[in-house]
Amino acid sequence: MIDFHSHVLPYIDDGSKSFDMSIDMLRLAVDEGTEYICATSHFIPGEVVQDKKLYYEKLENLQTLCKTKEIDIKILPALELYMHPDLPKLYSEKKVWGINLTPYILVELPMQQFPVYTEDIFYELRLQGARPILAHPERNLRIMKDVSLLENLVDQGILAQVNAGSLRGIYGKDIKAFAEHLVERNLIHLIGSDAHDDTRRTTKIESAFEVVKRKNDELYEWINENQYKIIEGKEVEPLHVKKNKKKFGFFGLFKTS
Ligand SMILES: [Fe+2]
Repeated sequence: MIDFHSHVLPYIDDGSKSFDMSIDMLRLAVDEGTEYICATSHFIPGEVVQDKKLYYEKLENLQTLCKTKEIDIKILPALELYMHPDLPKLYSEKKVWGINLTPYILVELPMQQFPVYTEDIFYELRLQGARPILAHPERNLRIMKDVSLLENLVDQGILAQVNAGSLRGIYGKDIKAFAEHLVERNLIHLIGSDAHDDTRRTTKIESAFEVVKRKNDELYEWINENQYKIIEGKEVEPLHVKKNKKKFGFFGLFKTS
């Protein structure tokens, strides 16, 4: 398994609070069978800006600590980029980096909004060769109200990552129901823990893989095959999006159309 989204590096954002906590988080991941974990520390242009050198120092320190403690997991460099008009410029200037330094970049939207420039920014990034992955669309209020916003992005070649916790219900039943809806329709491509600590928002992702297998076996197979291509920077061919048989009524009410 690959965890495509975590804040496992300590002292760098609102994620892990210490090297001890990071080690606990990595142990939980290894116990479940996670082989790779992407250290997607927050990058918010103008607010939380990661210095490449310092980021790498932290990453290497944690990797060394893992070796010492015989924790068998590979921590991959990555970032979680906050949607912002400056992203194409930052990408072209190589001030931000993708998952395992591939063109696959993890991008999050504000929780309550879908900025008007979202599609344009993704388009510009793709023109530069980047392959954006939208982080946890199931938690975005605008997408919950109108799933066609996500359908359009996926049509344009954007991939989507679901939070394992959403499928476990840690953000509530509405987000759980919506996450399952996206899984059923092939509107999800990857799984991440979005782990921030070792107690509530942990690195556990195995149960999310089980939910995907139960809800959409074809997608489960697709993820198992394609997740490794993504960390190697290879192109992937997403599954066709299934038609919307259920209308997602605001906050958890499904209606048959
Ligand atoms: Fe995150």
